[in-house]
Amino acid sequence: PPQKCSFAMAASQALADAQRVGAPADPYNNPVDLYRDQISRDLAPLTGKPAGDIFDRLAYTQTLDKGDLNLPVPALRIQGKKPNEQAAELAEKYPDNPALEKPTANGPILQFFFKSEPLVRLVIPSILQKKQHYGNNYTLGLKDPSDPSKGAKTIIVEFSSPNIAKPFHAGHLRSTIIGGFLANLHEAAGWKVIRMNYLGDWGRQFGLLANAFETYGSEEKLKQDPIGHLFDIYVAINKVSGPEEDEIKTKQEQLKQLEERKEDTATLATEIAALQAKSTNEKARQYFKRLENGDEKALAVWRRFRDLSISRYEKTYARLNIHYDVYSGESQVEMWRLDRACNELEQSGLSEESKGAIIVDLTKNKDKNVKKLGKTLVKKSDGSSLYLTRDLGEAVKRDELYHFDKMIYVISSQQDVHVNQMFKILELMGRKEISDKCVLVNFGMVLGMSTRKGTVKFLDDILRDVGDEMHGVMKKNDKKYSQVENPEQTADTLGISAVMVQDMKGKRINNYEFSLEQMCSFEGDTGPYLQYAHARLCSITRKAALTAEEINSADLSLLKESHAINLVRVLASWPDMVQQTLKTLEPTTVLTYLFKMTHMLSSSYDVLQVVGSEPELKKARMALYEAARQVLHNGMKMLGLNPVERM
Ligand code: ARG
Repeated sequence: PPQKCSFAMAASQALADAQRVGAPADPYNNPVDLYRDQISRDLAPLTGKPAGDIFDRLAYTQTLDKGDLNLPVPALRIQGKKPNEQAAELAEKYPDNPALEKPTANGPILQFFFKSEPLVRLVIPSILQKKQHYGNNYTLGLKDPSDPSKGAKTIIVEFSSPNIAKPFHAGHLRSTIIGGFLANLHEAAGWKVIRMNYLGDWGRQFGLLANAFETYGSEEKLKQDPIGHLFDIYVAINKVSGPEEDEIKTKQEQLKQLEERKEDTATLATEIAALQAKSTNEKARQYFKRLENGDEKALAVWRRFRDLSISRYEKTYARLNIHYDVYSGESQVEMWRLDRACNELEQSGLSEESKGAIIVDLTKNKDKNVKKLGKTLVKKSDGSSLYLTRDLGEAVKRDELYHFDKMIYVISSQQDVHVNQMFKILELMGRKEISDKCVLVNFGMVLGMSTRKGTVKFLDDILRDVGDEMHGVMKKNDKKYSQVENPEQTADTLGISAVMVQDMKGKRINNYEFSLEQMCSFEGDTGPYLQYAHARLCSITRKAALTAEEINSADLSLLKESHAINLVRVLASWPDMVQQTLKTLEPTTVLTYLFKMTHMLSSSYDVLQVVGSEPELKKARMALYEAARQVLHNGMKMLGLNPVERM
């Protein structure tokens, strides 16, 4: 008779066993860990190695034909025979087990296949019971896995970080998408996540902007569309200050020539000084000085720009399911923190004076990799601070404020040098305990991103264009289009999925071409394809019209076809994929998994029909599809997508 073994029993047994052998995982959250646990305990006496070591080396496989788990025998470093012989011997000696087929040796690799019936009985009920939590493993983020009362680790994910009054460019788009995903990923692993936006909200451009507002500003427009309006007046004032600066530059060149020819420079010099004094840029500088000196009136203007921009940003981020816990920014690093950072640099002998400014010269370092980071300014000769110095001050501030265990910066690879300088300088200035906790998650460029209406001003422009494109694609199918309740909103959701999936499909570091047509297609590995897969599963559920009770009481032993079994094998590996993604920090790890799963689904529909099948078979298959839908849903949510039910 088949073993009587409910999922809960198997899980609690495995958990107890895992604790006994000190296995670093919670099998209740990850069905594959149940097998790891079993295998490592079986192999420990055969190999003479601790079960924990074996557990860690049992890797998931790329394709199902290679088994469900692989053990590279050489990794165990067993003395004596050749690895191939060892693998063959271990396969031979492996004891019979109700949950596992006899392992096979493929060269030095031991391949394990899960027996299908127990697997199906373990996995499907687990998914149906855990629902949106399936795949999450809240124990991974614990400070101390053996003592949950010590609480979770804290991670700061800094992402998006646009500059007020400047265009929201592709780098910000990618940072937003990838950062949102990384935050969700860590939340699923039980970390306490702080989502942080580090705005470009400080610098002389705010002096420029405040003055521009006096000349070109409109209260009404500012309230209506703060981001657009600030951008417009910023462009307008740059049109004035640009030519002014050009003129000054030309005159300065002339002055140089006069000097070289040893001719009289006095008149020209006075003229230049006068031009500079009344220039737009100088006025901006003065205004910014007021800001830096804490002039309340000036600050009030700046604060309004910032607050209004943030509320507008929030609306757009909400469309992407993103909410921030903290809007930090370059403005938020207090003067005393900058001074403190400069003092620490000086005391550690890292900084030096150079032409009135303060620099850090890393080329003097002995380490080749540090040398490469070059020289960098930390304080200008007029005493004003810099991007890098603010980042140093801000990192220490975040540590003091949030006591984070880890901090991820999601920033374009164009700023690799900046970030690596920042991390290294933090370390060398005596803040190694902070720099050790910092991680850069970088990414490549988006090529050819522009909206139909010209340059990209804000994320909304991109989303509007993609939504329009998607609406066009949907309209091509008259029949379906007429059934969609709210086509505009659906087009919007699909458009957002299209952009996000295109962005996360490849390895982060790769550049990609922004192609409206490609990303909006239903063919190929696109956002709309994933959405379609989800909507199709929802449609099957609607047509089958079974109650939750009927589905939960299904006789799962009826799922015998290889299509069904293979699908379950893939569903079983979802929590393992999440764990793997925590190592790669690559959204493509999740997307590749979801595409593999949805491709299998597409080829299953003809073989595993629900409607029209015998009642019992119908229930069993529906349980399988519902489990698949749940996993697809969980994966999409983690990526930041909104799964649609109809389209
Ligand atoms: N605002 C910056 C930019 O648009 C990105 C900020 C990245 N974060 C940081 N801590 N430096 O280029």
